[in-house]
Amino acid sequence: MPGTPPPARRTVLRAAALVPAAGFGITACSSSDDEGRSNRSAPTAPVDLGKSDDITVGASKLYKDENVVVSRISDDEYKAFSTICTHERCPINKLEGHKLTCPCHGSQFDATNGKVLHAPAVAPLSELPVKVEDGKIVAGPGA
Ligand code: FES
Repeated sequence: MPGTPPPARRTVLRAAALVPAAGFGITACSSSDDEGRSNRSAPTAPVDLGKSDDITVGASKLYKDENVVVSRISDDEYKAFSTICTHERCPINKLEGHKLTCPCHGSQFDATNGKVLHAPAVAPLSELPVKVEDGKIVAGPGA
């Protein structure tokens, strides 16, 4: 039939039309991954977090690079939690008092016990072993 391209040619044209859309989709996903979400892991081994006296009794401190929050419960008792959000694994980057807030969808957690304060997350933060060694806080599996 004149004016109608053979099926093979139509298939090629359709595929060519889809390439830019697919490329755009990949770019958009990569961009969102670059927004502070590249490190989505809590420590897998003990990490040195600095001087234990940096945290006063009753306070909490967020270690963004290590994805850990430490709360000093008493003179010699500390609690540590992974700050990888249990909703969709964004690294939490905000601590106000004891309240951690995830930048992705707004889940909130208590830094002293890991409990969820605000959905959409439903599971608590993972607790990490923590100890003080030579005046320094060490947290992570094996600490
Ligand atoms: S990943 Fe933290 S609220 Fe969704």
